[in-house]
Amino acid sequence: MSSPLKKYLLLPTIIRLSSGVPRDRHAAWENYWHRIQNTGSGGDVLWDAGSDREFNSYFEALQRTLNPALPVIDVGCGNGSFTRLLAAYFPRALGVDVAASATSRAEAESTALSNVDFRTVDCTAAAAGDLLAAELGDCNVFVRGVFHVVDPASHAALANTLRSLVGQQGRVFLVETNFRGNSLDYISRLGASPGRIPRPLELAIGGLPKPGHFGSGERQAAFDDGAWKVLEDGAVTIDAVAMQEKGQPEQIPGYYAALAPRL
Ligand SMILES: C[S@@+](CC[C@H](N)C(=O)[O-])C[C@H]1O[C@@H](n2cnc3c(N)ncnc32)[C@H](O)[C@@H]1O
Repeated sequence: MSSPLKKYLLLPTIIRLSSGVPRDRHAAWENYWHRIQNTGSGGDVLWDAGSDREFNSYFEALQRTLNPALPVIDVGCGNGSFTRLLAAYFPRALGVDVAASATSRAEAESTALSNVDFRTVDCTAAAAGDLLAAELGDCNVFVRGVFHVVDPASHAALANTLRSLVGQQGRVFLVETNFRGNSLDYISRLGASPGRIPRPLELAIGGLPKPGHFGSGERQAAFDDGAWKVLEDGAVTIDAVAMQEKGQPEQIPGYYAALAPRL
């Protein structure tokens, strides 16, 4: 069979795996993080390559747009890999995530850093941003890979939380995957073949809601033009964990944007 059609042989496995995904997104994330045994390079987490290559690729953009005097909040921090990278450049880094199993793992992986902590928060909840802002004041916000996994109906609620967190002086830096093919193209690109689904992919397909993509169109829909101005945006390459033994991180087309509140 020619290779463009081979991907369709994945369908029965994908349907079987995804039939077990909890309907409640927050419960799905909690179950997912609860099952994770290893993180970083060679680990179970699809988007945790265990490398700073991706972060370094947009570090200059991040430096010229975020305010180095303010704390940074890593929204949807997972196991905190990027919270720890950010902590070197800001007075304080707080990672927040809807899954308690993610934040407890992030804490356990961050004991060497004194200016990092984590909290379990649903960032689409109406009061989430105001509660944190009352405690922390204006903050920078970093978001990696969260909008494309949140229900599009909740994108505006998530952007509202970010608006509360930045106050007057803070800025948002977001990085999202923006793969435009269909699901079979996506998982084939990430190393799935009819005979083999790598474990990080199997855990994601079998445990999590189907991801979307997030580029400038989705950003415009989520971030009201009257409330935000775009400082810069463009394409980035997102690193995912290597799917071949001793392989290089997988690379996924992505999108970044730096945003400031309109005052
Ligand atoms: C694809 S992972 C990215 C994790 C992390 N930002 C990184 O790049 O390593 C998406 C994360 O968003 C979290 N998440 C999903 N919905 C959320 C919500 N409503 N509030 C806060 N975190 C959420 C998930 O638990 C998960 O850890």
